[in-house]
Amino acid sequence: MNGLPISPQVFAILGALIEEKLGIHYGPLDKDLLGDKVAVRAVEAGFDSLLDYYYYLRYDPSGPVELDALADVLVVGETYFFREFDQLEALVREILVPLAEASGSRNVRVWSAACATGEEPYSMAMLLAERGLLDRVEIVASDVSTRSLAAARAGEYGPRSLRSQVKVPPCAWRFLQKNGERIVVSDHIRNAVDFRRINLLDGDAIKTLGLFDAIVCRNVLIYFQDSTARRVIDALTGVLVPNGALLVGVSESLLRLGTALRCEERGGAFVYRKVG
Ligand SMILES: C[S@@+](CC[C@H](N)C(=O)[O-])C[C@H]1O[C@@H](n2cnc3c(N)ncnc32)[C@H](O)[C@@H]1O
Repeated sequence: MNGLPISPQVFAILGALIEEKLGIHYGPLDKDLLGDKVAVRAVEAGFDSLLDYYYYLRYDPSGPVELDALADVLVVGETYFFREFDQLEALVREILVPLAEASGSRNVRVWSAACATGEEPYSMAMLLAERGLLDRVEIVASDVSTRSLAAARAGEYGPRSLRSQVKVPPCAWRFLQKNGERIVVSDHIRNAVDFRRINLLDGDAIKTLGLFDAIVCRNVLIYFQDSTARRVIDALTGVLVPNGALLVGVSESLLRLGTALRCEERGGAFVYRKVG
């Protein structure tokens, strides 16, 4: 607790505002967790009451800017290089490589939606570079957190981004350099990823990205209620080419959401295809 108490009523209205704007759902058991997180930012922004902070977020003309800053403290940016490696490898080997080899002069497009600090799109870029196909595939990566995106663009990481229990392909060391404790992504890989700030609830912003052959949206839908997840999946499906592929985290499934996408297995990974 950071000294700003949260009443059940303020929890209800703050939680509803956060869910409306960012999608992240807080259940009744999360009251103190949310209160503590919001209090950190509210105090930083000069407030001494969470109700006043709520009014500011909701009604002040600067509310949207403050909400962006609040997003930075709320989001869970847990990620690391080659997370759920077999799925990333299947995406590259089974989907992106065949498309890149067959696509003639057109670039294949893949989007890492909710990329956090960038390890996911950089891992995809390394797997493509290893096969000499990086210049044939356009990689867009996005997140709602400005702070995470700044870290992603910098391309410099601490040891937690490369976990010993995670399979790291030997080729990675062609593209990652160690600098003491730090891991630095080579310019070749860094320059291959186009980072954008996109809120997955913003359907209009998503449309500005253009169409994709594949979208990777992993480990973010778990923070949303089903109705929100469904809305996000619809927006993502809208920017997939016919037969385009959507991949979610290995512990996530779209089937209970009643998606119109067709689920198939490719190289050991589940892939959702846009029918048509
Ligand atoms: C646990 S990380 C997942 C990172 C990566 N995809 C992975 O699987 O390793 C979840 C990310 O979702 C982002 N996020 C949460 N709500 C979002 C929203 N409404 N729009 C875009 N990104 C969001 C967070 O900022 C965070 O970086």
